[in-house]
Amino acid sequence: MMLEVTDMHAYYGKSHILQGVNLNVQEGEIVALLGRNGVGRSTTCKAIMGEVEPKGSVKFQGQEIAGKKAFQIANMGIGYVPENRDIFPGLTTRQNLTLGLKPGQKDGAGRWSMQSMFDMFENLDRRADVEASVLSGGEQQMLTMCRTLMGDPDLVMIDEPTEGLSPQMVQKVAEVLKAIAEKGISTLLVEQKLSIAMDIADRVYVMGHGQVVFEGTPAELKARDDVRKEWLEV
Ligand SMILES: Nc1ncnc2c1ncn2[C@@H]1O[C@H](COP(=O)(O)OP(=O)(O)OP(=O)(O)O)[C@@H](O)[C@H]1O
Ligand SMILES: [Mg+2]
Repeated sequence: MMLEVTDMHAYYGKSHILQGVNLNVQEGEIVALLGRNGVGRSTTCKAIMGEVEPKGSVKFQGQEIAGKKAFQIANMGIGYVPENRDIFPGLTTRQNLTLGLKPGQKDGAGRWSMQSMFDMFENLDRRADVEASVLSGGEQQMLTMCRTLMGDPDLVMIDEPTEGLSPQMVQKVAEVLKAIAEKGISTLLVEQKLSIAMDIADRVYVMGHGQVVFEGTPAELKARDDVRKEWLEV
């Protein structure tokens, strides 16, 4: 098992946000985590990543990681693309990508290389030596994803990568997610709406109020009008 989250709780001050989250991701799987605004999807990622303190168990490749620091968890092989596209605006595209390498890691030593990013995204290739601040929102999203991949993670958690993107850019994101899965890398994809998740995910979790309220395949979720009405549609 790549990731196994058992009875995970998390708090902001006294607010009990995550109330016993259970989920898992297997090797090479794309798993979507869906839910309305504010139900705790991002907090789930942050708690797995150690950016918010988790209570309960978080196992990555069989090893307990709850209690470890975010940088340790990243070095163990979890890549995290947060919902705010946090590029380094004053640095070039190429420099941003280089910053995704782990300490001591050489470009091309892992499953990805900078060239493979440029091959996937000609927009990034064209803007390789331009300051990242001038990239479009979609290009910045691509850059953030690619920078995370440069660190050669075994599992990537991607928080709402398609938000605010054009349909064409959404397709691009879907292609990258498939390319990631083809390399045997696992993905936990956070989305709000059904969107691309239903097309590309192997399994889907729906969150409501700090807990998982549905688990199944995209086809099973499609058949559950009640779940979609209660927990997803606005
Ligand atoms: N730093 C914080 N301090 C206090 N409360 C927070 C903090 N971050 C999030 N929350 C609260 O925790 C709850 C879950 O937030 P979270 O960001 O996980 O939601 P989400 O499912 O990712 O939704 P969205 O991305 O649409 O906001 C929300 O009620 C939110 O207001
Ligand atoms: Mg969020």
